[in-house]
Amino acid sequence: MKKILVTGGCGFIGSHTSLALLEKGYELLIVDSLVNSFPVVIEKIISLLNKSYPNIEKQIHLKKCDLCDLNLLKKVFQEFNSDKPISAVMHFAGLKAVSDSLSFPLSYWESNVLGTINLLKVMDEFDCRNLVFSSSATIYGFHEKKKDLKEDDFKKPFNTYGDTKYTIEKILKSLVQANRKDWRFAILRYFNPVGAHTSGIIGESPRNFANNIMPIINSVALRQREHLYIFGNDWNTLDGTPIRDYIHIDDLVEGHIKALEHLFKNKSKEISLNLGTGRGSSVLQLIKVFEEVNHINIPYKFSPRRDGDIAYYVADNSLAKKVLNWEPKKDLHEMCKDSWNWVSKNPYGYSKQ
Ligand SMILES: NC(=O)c1ccc[n+]([C@@H]2O[C@H](COP(=O)([O-])OP(=O)(O)OC[C@H]3O[C@@H](n4cnc5c(N)ncnc54)[C@H](O)[C@@H]3O)[C@@H](O)[C@H]2O)c1
Repeated sequence: MKKILVTGGCGFIGSHTSLALLEKGYELLIVDSLVNSFPVVIEKIISLLNKSYPNIEKQIHLKKCDLCDLNLLKKVFQEFNSDKPISAVMHFAGLKAVSDSLSFPLSYWESNVLGTINLLKVMDEFDCRNLVFSSSATIYGFHEKKKDLKEDDFKKPFNTYGDTKYTIEKILKSLVQANRKDWRFAILRYFNPVGAHTSGIIGESPRNFANNIMPIINSVALRQREHLYIFGNDWNTLDGTPIRDYIHIDDLVEGHIKALEHLFKNKSKEISLNLGTGRGSSVLQLIKVFEEVNHINIPYKFSPRRDGDIAYYVADNSLAKKVLNWEPKKDLHEMCKDSWNWVSKNPYGYSKQ
């Protein structure tokens, strides 16, 4: 049984990936500061698996640790590494709210970039040099033309959050270029992850309000807010609202498992891949599907465009499909259904459990 260290494993994407890693037989140490998550998610993951996998609780461990605390991180790594070496790190930990990153840039540079540098130092010290990294499509920034984004397209992030992700990518590439040690990186650039595990037992439950569209649609559906505000109806798109590439969390998770296996097969030293479906949907299309699938009315209003928004942001995912032999399977209907299934069963997320 290989050992994997999962940073940020209590968060939205990390928890769903941890579940899949356990099903694959890996032993996990989750390192999370819990700044944006709740430890109860570990019990939920165990409850989902313990019927089919007795003693699964012995396969998952949680340490509360901020990656910025180098000494604690080293200690935690050393303990988990002691009887058998850690084979790889899945690195989800980081702050992710674009608007916060503009208001509190130092926190973002510290948590995302310093946190990653600390992680890489400790990995190096313990000879663990396989890493799967959560990057973001945000690194591409503005693109005038309505074309699907390719991995080697021009990059110019337009906010501090995107800058931190792009900086981390450069750090990882510099380690490969230095060519002194056998580092292997899979850099995964997510488009718009949504949905939840089909059980409705785990899902997205941030401590800080997620300013993404699906959590806002869900809060309107819960009648916690009156309207959804759509920023602009005069974009150059089919119905005037912005187009994004939504991807179901299950498909995203499968991409991670395949990327990890790709590293273990020593296939490449560094690979950067877009994880999106390659299909764009407008905000109005997303609302319509959500209403149809879940039989809930989502009132909305138009408001002026926001600075930094763009009309069209869709992945060209052909490289990920080819390299990983991966194919996103779930459509917008399943994304909306699973998302509401989780939220309607857990209107306060994990916060009151
Ligand atoms: N969800 C998205 O839309 C999206 C899109 C692109 C990229 N990403 C990236 O994917 C990763 C996971 O995203 P998510 O949606 O699961 O976010 P999340 O906030 O749900 O999970 C991140 C986890 O990391 C932890 N964390 C944050 N800073 C930490 C630190 N310094 N040390 C230790 N733990 C820390 C948080 O407590 C949380 O559990 C993030 O790096 C994010 O930037 C997310």
